[in-house]
Amino acid sequence: MTESPPARVFADRSEACRTLALELVGLVVSIQATGRHAVLGLATGRTPLPFYAELIRLHREGKLSFARIITFNLDEYLGLPARHPESYHSFMRRELFDHVDIPAANIHIPDGMVTPEKLAAHCAAYEDAIRAAGGIDFQLLGIGRTGHIGFNEPGSPRDSRTRRVELDPITRQDAAPSFGGLDQVPTHAISMGCGTILEARKIALLAWGDAKAAIVNEALTGPVTDRVSASFLQEHPDATFYLDAEAGKAL
Ligand code: PGA
Repeated sequence: MTESPPARVFADRSEACRTLALELVGLVVSIQATGRHAVLGLATGRTPLPFYAELIRLHREGKLSFARIITFNLDEYLGLPARHPESYHSFMRRELFDHVDIPAANIHIPDGMVTPEKLAAHCAAYEDAIRAAGGIDFQLLGIGRTGHIGFNEPGSPRDSRTRRVELDPITRQDAAPSFGGLDQVPTHAISMGCGTILEARKIALLAWGDAKAAIVNEALTGPVTDRVSASFLQEHPDATFYLDAEAGKAL
């Protein structure tokens, strides 16, 4: 038997992000008080933008330091160099890392330019680095219209690990505007697997707006199935959905 993770519906995304950011500060401080670094799993896309803005604000107010934080991003497009404006390396620098005090050595993002011969070893090394850091304390997630978490598109097994994945046509369509056309969107990515994500000790999935209401409802209340990888969160002991009123309206 599974119990759905709690869904917290806020008036708007700012309130959701303010709440979660303060909770994260508390978690980071309590972990660091034990003498170890806090390990965060980070996400990209439109959804986390107001959350990162809030973390930057807290950093500027002196309430959050990244000096003893280690980060692992969920995914990266295959074939994009780190300097490409749409790479997740660029995204993370622009939206968070350039504005906080995180040491470069603490940042981990899969390499989109890894050669096919080195890809399996690169993915295994990513998993090893997560383990060596002590595992992920807090994993931030968005949800795609396909129900993906990371780039775990429909059919991704529950126990999948970091690997090369093919992007769903819906996911590529959603990315087309920022790439300036569908033909510019990469077809493949490297993504943490469902199994990698589910090992995080605490998980927060964010979703905003009408367009996410149906898939959020399916992930929370539908069957646990690899057709909707976010539905695996129903089996996680500490996963919470942070929703605005529109994304939560179908619940
Ligand atoms: P979005 O993407 O934040 O740009 O809506 C979410 C996702 O695909 O996980």
